[in-house]
Amino acid sequence: MRLVVFGIGYVGLVTGTGLAELGHDVLCIDIDPQRIRQLEDGIIPIYEPGLDDLVRRNVRAKRLTFATQVASPADEADAYFIAVGTPPGPDGAADISAVTSVAERIAEIAKQPALAVVKSTVPVGTCDAVQAILDKKAHVGLEVVSNPEFLKEGTAVQDFFRPDRIVLGARSESAKETLRLLYAPLQLSGERVVVTDPRSSELTKYASNTMLAMRVSFMNELARLCDATGADVHAVRQGVGSDTRIGKRFLYAGPGYGGSCFPKDVQALFHLGRAHGVPMRLAEATHLANEEQATFLAQIVEKAVGTLKGKTVALWGLAFKPETDDIRESPALKLAVALLERGANVVGHDPEAAANFAKAMVQYGTRVKVVDRDYDALDGAHALVLLTEWRSYRAPNFGEIRKRLCDSADDLPPVVVDGRNVWRPQDVMRAGMRYKGIGVPSVALAPDRTSLGALR
Ligand SMILES: NC(=O)c1ccc[n+]([C@@H]2O[C@H](COP(=O)([O-])OP(=O)(O)OC[C@H]3O[C@@H](n4cnc5c(N)ncnc54)[C@H](O)[C@@H]3O)[C@@H](O)[C@H]2O)c1
Repeated sequence: MRLVVFGIGYVGLVTGTGLAELGHDVLCIDIDPQRIRQLEDGIIPIYEPGLDDLVRRNVRAKRLTFATQVASPADEADAYFIAVGTPPGPDGAADISAVTSVAERIAEIAKQPALAVVKSTVPVGTCDAVQAILDKKAHVGLEVVSNPEFLKEGTAVQDFFRPDRIVLGARSESAKETLRLLYAPLQLSGERVVVTDPRSSELTKYASNTMLAMRVSFMNELARLCDATGADVHAVRQGVGSDTRIGKRFLYAGPGYGGSCFPKDVQALFHLGRAHGVPMRLAEATHLANEEQATFLAQIVEKAVGTLKGKTVALWGLAFKPETDDIRESPALKLAVALLERGANVVGHDPEAAANFAKAMVQYGTRVKVVDRDYDALDGAHALVLLTEWRSYRAPNFGEIRKRLCDSADDLPPVVVDGRNVWRPQDVMRAGMRYKGIGVPSVALAPDRTSLGALR
């Protein structure tokens, strides 16, 4: 098939490249000329494991091309994919202006009947609005299909080729059939397509992300309760997750969820509810609990270090999760701001996201630094906070960490805050530091440095 993808970000670039790999001719369009120039020069503007090889291979095979404008013969495409951003507007509701603007463009250029496939995450009713634009402005028959994207950054390429499910919301049988055909190679090991109407398909995406975010927020609230009561969130998670109705995944307490999807989609869902007079109370509570988690973490650091004024805190992991350079809504951004507000300086390290983090924090000048080598972040810092569980942080040299960190003002050893509960407290303490996890009983070297005492 001849395909055009609008919006070459995390979703568009993976989708376009994946479809080219399946043998289709794909033109990728983005309004950002710099992004297109980079791609034409073989530079992949995002970090996503496995993507660069795939892009290069398909560019070489001339199945994958990039441009800022659609030109012939792409105006005779079989399908136009819309994968532009839908960021939150000022009130938190999804801003779909980029989607409608692409719809206008498709209506102008399409020279033969085709599908307009909405991959962007959009509020219920958006596909109908896009259909109305196409019906009014296009010179040929164009049908809208909702096909929300479920890929996860960090494993996006794998997710494209082995999706858990492919949701299609279409009105006509022929549109359903065309997309079934397109995705058939991804289903050799069994049926993964859920076919429905556009509105149910649009809502499925918000419901999925909110359900996952809800599990995270619930565990974070339980972790706070564990801290207050002396219970251990690891044990609670194991006990709860062993129930097959609940399952073990997505039950990890941590620094709060981030990224370009969960925060905005949870908010968009409760705005959608409000707009229709249906309060989405669980979504609202999920969002609030998540907002509070950065403050909770900053309080943990403050309690352990004492006043943060003039102190330095090292952050390991700035991306919102491992294997991505995406820092949108990352817990590291929120914690850094909370620490800066309390008078601390911040030094960060991340294998891929440091440059994006530095750019986002540029207004804080020299109070925020990033370093190229992980241990260099620790020199002169009073605490280390682990925020993203990159593999390279999983088994650090705690002796080296101890050597580089400073003691607290009241002569307590430095504190390591394990925001992902991945380190063993005894390993940290054996190296002469205090350990604090999220919702796990914390033990620390007491001031006399010989006995173990609770970190309060
Ligand atoms: N990132 C994810 O993990 C993920 C997963 C599933 C769904 N989604 C959804 O997919 C959509 C895209 O997300 P993303 O993370 O890829 O966004 P992104 O911000 O990485 O990329 C969006 C791209 O669209 C381009 N763009 C904006 N307006 C345009 C226009 N009029 N014409 C052409 N290009 C235009 C931008 O320049 C940018 O390169 C969003 O709705 C998001 O919620 C994202």
